[in-house]
Amino acid sequence: MDRYEYTRNNLNSQDLLKNPFDQFARWLQEAISEKVVEPTAMCLSTVDAEGHPSSRIVLLRGQDELGFIFFTNYLSRKGSEIEATHHGCLNFWWGALERQIRIEGTLEKVSDDESDEYWNTRPYESQVASAASPQSREIRSRESLQALVEEVQRQHPGHVDRPKTWGGYRLLPDYFEFWQGGPARLHDRIVFLKLVAGWQIKRLAP
Ligand SMILES: Cc1cc2nc3c(=O)[nH]c(=O)nc-3n(C[C@H](O)[C@H](O)[C@H](O)COP(=O)(O)O)c2cc1C
Repeated sequence: MDRYEYTRNNLNSQDLLKNPFDQFARWLQEAISEKVVEPTAMCLSTVDAEGHPSSRIVLLRGQDELGFIFFTNYLSRKGSEIEATHHGCLNFWWGALERQIRIEGTLEKVSDDESDEYWNTRPYESQVASAASPQSREIRSRESLQALVEEVQRQHPGHVDRPKTWGGYRLLPDYFEFWQGGPARLHDRIVFLKLVAGWQIKRLAP
């Protein structure tokens, strides 16, 4: 296989915004403008009580001054691991821009109001699917899942109330790393480390 050369951009400290949330927002906007497929798709890694990691893709549904929000089933594998350890890591890879962002921090549930607000924007089919699917648990067959879907449709025609077992998590970051591919494998890596007041900025070797 050919070795891919990274040539698109450089990442100089002077080009960076001083606040990592603002820098993230700028890069996300550039990924959207570049028409990256599913630019808000991110790999979420969690760890169980014994320290075993697991990863999966979820969609970023909000960013505020506190953190990064996604929605899921609280009884899923990720939900159990988050409740056990509260540690998480997000990773975005935008290949067309030769960029990666790693964000580490702690995870907490968003408020019921925030979860309700998002749930109520979702199409009926998505509400039905989320209410019907016992995410991450074993099911007998595709038909048994379809039966659960039809049961929810029968009981809740037109609108489903948010199940209390479904909602948002917010990752509160204490570490950001912005990675920009560079020529000859000399990639740029700029880290923002959370201090009591503000962020310390460092460059790491690739
Ligand atoms: C592009 C993409 C987007 C996804 N978005 C979500 C999401 O926002 N929330 C979610 O719970 N699962 C989402 N999934 C499914 C998860 O990757 C995963 O299969 C599911 O959440 C169960 O994970 P768990 O068993 O580790 O808890 C998405 C999958 C893909 C490929």
